[in-house]
Amino acid sequence: MHAPWRTALVVGASSGIGPAVARQLAERGCRVALVARREAELARLAAALGGDGSVRAYAHDVTRAAEVPALFQQICRDLGGLDLLVYAAGVMPRVAGEEYTFAKDREVVEVNLLGAIAWINEAAPRFARARAGTIVGISSVAGDRGRRGNPAYASSKAGLDAYLEAIRNRIGRHGVAVVTVKPGPVDTPMTEHIDRKPFLISAEEAARQTLAAAARRARTAYVPRRWRPIMLVLRHIPSPLFQRLDL
Ligand SMILES: NC(=O)c1ccc[n+]([C@@H]2O[C@H](COP(=O)([O-])OP(=O)(O)OC[C@H]3O[C@@H](n4cnc5c(N)ncnc54)[C@H](OP(=O)(O)O)[C@@H]3O)[C@@H](O)[C@H]2O)c1
Repeated sequence: MHAPWRTALVVGASSGIGPAVARQLAERGCRVALVARREAELARLAAALGGDGSVRAYAHDVTRAAEVPALFQQICRDLGGLDLLVYAAGVMPRVAGEEYTFAKDREVVEVNLLGAIAWINEAAPRFARARAGTIVGISSVAGDRGRRGNPAYASSKAGLDAYLEAIRNRIGRHGVAVVTVKPGPVDTPMTEHIDRKPFLISAEEAARQTLAAAARRARTAYVPRRWRPIMLVLRHIPSPLFQRLDL
């Protein structure tokens, strides 16, 4: 089956969900740009997926936001257009129960939120002008509540949710789909150190459900879907009670 997009840009394409998304797009005939810091990983993936140049690698650190406008334009030129942006870059460092390390928190916000804003700020006006295009942000169920385990990570994802909703409200009326994907635990390097991973799914399955949500122009997609009713309940637990729960 062919993808509904001819050209796609995946930020955070060197490990986990990002490369799985890129692989599924390439297998369906899409030209794909891969962005992340680890150049060797990207080059390997590009060679495996598109030896003919249909999959291209671009080494970039999303905390260097000033580089984004020029790189975005270059990628659009190289691909011959852009139909889909998937922002999958993210970090979730280990944080101890009583730890308050600003350097870790800053990186989380810079990668998970500011990086997304920098890239989506390029795609949004382009897609609005074209009256077409799809923006996907990989958020997390973690953004739905302020859980005690990793405050900065939850904040970055809550911020990403609000940003994506605001962009959708700006440009949705111009025919652009803006899709917030909220996975539960996914089996990737990010979660290797975590013991409790309820309803764990593979990166390939997360990618499949992400692209399915994007194709049907969903606003918010929980991945897998069973997280939607669970998070609906969790979001409605009163704050004093939530504080007492070990979540
Ligand atoms: N795994 C889960 O259980 C889970 C659950 C919910 C949501 N998510 C979200 O899903 C997204 C993908 O996570 P994953 O599980 O696939 O994690 P992963 O395997 O650790 O991959 C993270 C990706 O982000 C990229 N990245 C990190 N820092 C970057 C930087 N400064 N500049 C450019 N790229 C950077 C990494 O590339 P380089 O290191 O090469 O730069 C890598 O490609 C993240 O936003 C994560 O928060 C994951």
